[in-house]
Amino acid sequence: MSDSLSIIRPDDWHLHLRDGPALRAVVADSARQFARAVVMPNLKPPVTTVALALAYRDRIRAALVDAGVATGTFAPLMTLYLTDNTRADEIDRAHESGAVVAVKLYPAGATTNSDAGVTDLLGKCGSVIERMQRVGMPLLIHGEVADPAVDVFDREAVFIERVMKPLRNAYPELRVVFEHLTTKDGVEYVRDAQGPVAATITAQHLLYNRNAIFQGGVRPHWYCLPILKREVHRQALVEAATGDSPRFFLGTDSAPHARGLKEHACGCAGCYTALHAMELYATAFDRAGRLDRLEAFASLRGPDFYRLPRNTARVTLRRETYVIAQEVPYGDDTLVPLAAGESLDWRLV
Ligand code: DOR
Ligand code: ZN
Repeated sequence: MSDSLSIIRPDDWHLHLRDGPALRAVVADSARQFARAVVMPNLKPPVTTVALALAYRDRIRAALVDAGVATGTFAPLMTLYLTDNTRADEIDRAHESGAVVAVKLYPAGATTNSDAGVTDLLGKCGSVIERMQRVGMPLLIHGEVADPAVDVFDREAVFIERVMKPLRNAYPELRVVFEHLTTKDGVEYVRDAQGPVAATITAQHLLYNRNAIFQGGVRPHWYCLPILKREVHRQALVEAATGDSPRFFLGTDSAPHARGLKEHACGCAGCYTALHAMELYATAFDRAGRLDRLEAFASLRGPDFYRLPRNTARVTLRRETYVIAQEVPYGDDTLVPLAAGESLDWRLV
């Protein structure tokens, strides 16, 4: 049993960096863990155009400088927020920008800052999707229906039937990432689908099932969307992440919210994992006895899907007790990392 693991420097293919003081508070954590990150566009107002994405990238770069991150060590890869009104020529601009790597679909009402999201994908966004298929621009999908009649725990499975299958039947060559996959149904769909489909998996969905939200009382820091599911789903996700399919790769979905907005009568969804992402993932892979697969999941399959070069630098993880901070500063507020105060078995050095 080795106590040290050297892998190619990993990337985060799904990250929320926020803006302003929040951005400045968290960006160095991701830069310590990852070489690149796909940055989600669900700001207020959302990042709906290439011009807004370029301005946001400038703010991220400035925050990296402010945080003392060495130039060129962390690259934000930008995304556009799809709305009912997105135009196909915005896709051409995105494709030509060299800065925007993908478009994000939030079904309206599905999650944080999704009010401006899509109400009827095939009805309203056909020409945009068609253009994305033509230029090879990936669609990153928050795969949950927002229908209040559907049980919260079933929203991913229902999304596959109601949206994912019709979408991919209509646009079979569209490059799709099923983001933050949480169910066995999703794993089987992505694993067996024809065509260019992949999925990201978070650390919390590999480490925890839904009991974690209720252990000894309600624990808001384990609440994210899509919500943690039953153990059978966690096991399917671990099998996918540690298995042979190149379709499953790392996306933290690290989603910071100030402590007071998590510990609240109506707490926000999102787990803060950028601080200790690789420590969490390494612990999950180690528990599955598959540390040998961590590099493929964290460092190889993502760039291959996005048709970007793999990183060349390497990082080392060491088997040693890592105690997760109780909280970290967040502008004028504080942020509670996932599993604050608990110990993990690995440390990124
Ligand atoms: O838990 C989540 N938090 N899920 C999302 O889809 C959005 C994210 C956020 O932005 O806070
Ligand atoms: Zn997200």
